[in-house]
Amino acid sequence: MTNISVKDLSDELRRAINKIEQTEGLEKVGIVIRVGDGVAWIHGLSKAGYSEMLEIETDDGVSEAFALNLMEDEIGAVLLDSESKVRAGAKVRLTGKALEVPVGEELLGRVVDPLGRPLDGGPEIKTKQTGLVEKPAIGVMGRQSVNEPLMTGILSIDAMVPIGRGQRELIIGDRQTGKTAIAIDTMINQAKQNTGVVNIYVAIGQKLSKVASLIDRLKEEGVLKQTIIVATSASDPASLLYLAPYAATAMGEYFRDNKKHALIIYDDLSKHAVAYRQMSLLLRRPPGREAYPGDVFYLHSRLLERSAKLSDDLGGGSLTALPIIETQAGDISAYIPTNVISITDGQIFLETDLFYQGLRPAISVGLSVSRVGGSAQTKAIKSVSGDLRMKLAQFRELASFAQFGSDLDKDTKSQIELGQRLTEILKQAQFSPLSIWEQYVSIYAVTEGLFNEVPVAKIQEARTALLSYVKKKHKKLIDTLNTGTKPDDKVKETIKEAAKEVASEYKG
Ligand SMILES: Nc1ncnc2c1ncn2[C@@H]1O[C@H](COP(=O)(O)OP(=O)(O)OP(=O)(O)O)[C@@H](O)[C@H]1O
Ligand SMILES: [Mg+2]
Repeated sequence: MTNISVKDLSDELRRAINKIEQTEGLEKVGIVIRVGDGVAWIHGLSKAGYSEMLEIETDDGVSEAFALNLMEDEIGAVLLDSESKVRAGAKVRLTGKALEVPVGEELLGRVVDPLGRPLDGGPEIKTKQTGLVEKPAIGVMGRQSVNEPLMTGILSIDAMVPIGRGQRELIIGDRQTGKTAIAIDTMINQAKQNTGVVNIYVAIGQKLSKVASLIDRLKEEGVLKQTIIVATSASDPASLLYLAPYAATAMGEYFRDNKKHALIIYDDLSKHAVAYRQMSLLLRRPPGREAYPGDVFYLHSRLLERSAKLSDDLGGGSLTALPIIETQAGDISAYIPTNVISITDGQIFLETDLFYQGLRPAISVGLSVSRVGGSAQTKAIKSVSGDLRMKLAQFRELASFAQFGSDLDKDTKSQIELGQRLTEILKQAQFSPLSIWEQYVSIYAVTEGLFNEVPVAKIQEARTALLSYVKKKHKKLIDTLNTGTKPDDKVKETIKEAAKEVASEYKG
């Protein structure tokens, strides 16, 4: 640490400090000694609390900062505004407050920065309430285990790695493997299925062009009005990137605490960790593994612990988190990925190879898990997808064997054929979330062998045909299936008949 003692300072700064010492005292007031890289170093403020908001006097008002490094004779404070306004010698005051952001329904449909200031050109946002950006997570007694589904509308996720409200499920994969696409589809599904779940999307250090096209898409799909977008770009100061997920979580907690359900997407926490590393190094904290400071685990654990399914006493609301992590060359054993994997309740791992083979969404069946969502899965989907993972895993293993020889016994052959059809039915285009009945019918048709005669290349087409057939002829069945209860034999019989009928048109 290279702390500068007062006697090393310029005469001017020393005089300013002396003056304060004699008038207001140096407990709640301080003087900026130097500024740079978004950090102001301050002498005085001996009563400052960790993460307390500070007000720095500038030529045209005040500039905000928060105190992060509390040292004996110097404080390192991270600036929230541009540092060009802050000069050495400026007076700083404690506010006695931690950072708060506006929270409430008023934010729905808006694009804001981490401090709740509009970025969409719309009017200033006036909310009745504010929420603490940093807040301890709710304790054990205030929670209950996950028991309601959060349907993503993505067949392979809802069937094999189901997510429950209040769960934290990591989306992890290399760049350009469809991570954001999963998050967007999940948001769209909340509007399409009318789940009433509010979406909060946090863009951390992303290209603004990407965020803009995402917003356009959400608008087009009619989802924006139940969505809050908290956006930061790569050119924002690291302090804003650091705050973004916490501020957005505060906005999500408002819904959770008011008996509602919210889904929050952190896109992505790799960039968040990098912003925090940058901030920490500028604050001269010692770097540890991969140059991240020692508390980088705490950075994300205290964030994700705020997602929860509340107890009935607290209203039963929920906040579900989908953090995103970008890996390098599929390495999930790197520092930040392992940290976040250990904090979350499961992960959806996307593989570059699958993505380029056209198996999209490129979800790795073997490496993806959901540790708590199973108990929240709808009975309908559960009843039909129980051994899907196993069947697919078996198929992958057999398929790699089968490459080498052609003499396969009948059993193996049929297992491979089923696997191929399953793989095919799990392919899903972007922006087309499936509702419960569509998911049920799709899986049922294949696992019951009703599409065995349909050539693999035609499976997708046959599925589409089957779904529109059912939609046209069996409206009531759709409502029954969409309740999520386990279908009875009559329902199954109807689907069987329909699938046979459709399959006969697609026979090879
Ligand atoms: N299920 C899908 N079917 C077809 N195309 C898809 C699907 N999912 C994603 N894509 C396409 O793949 C590309 C990458 O998707 P996306 O931006 O979601 O990936 P990402 O992992 O978030 O990328 P980045 O690392 O750049 O953030 C996009 O062009 C997207 O349209
Ligand atoms: Mg992305």
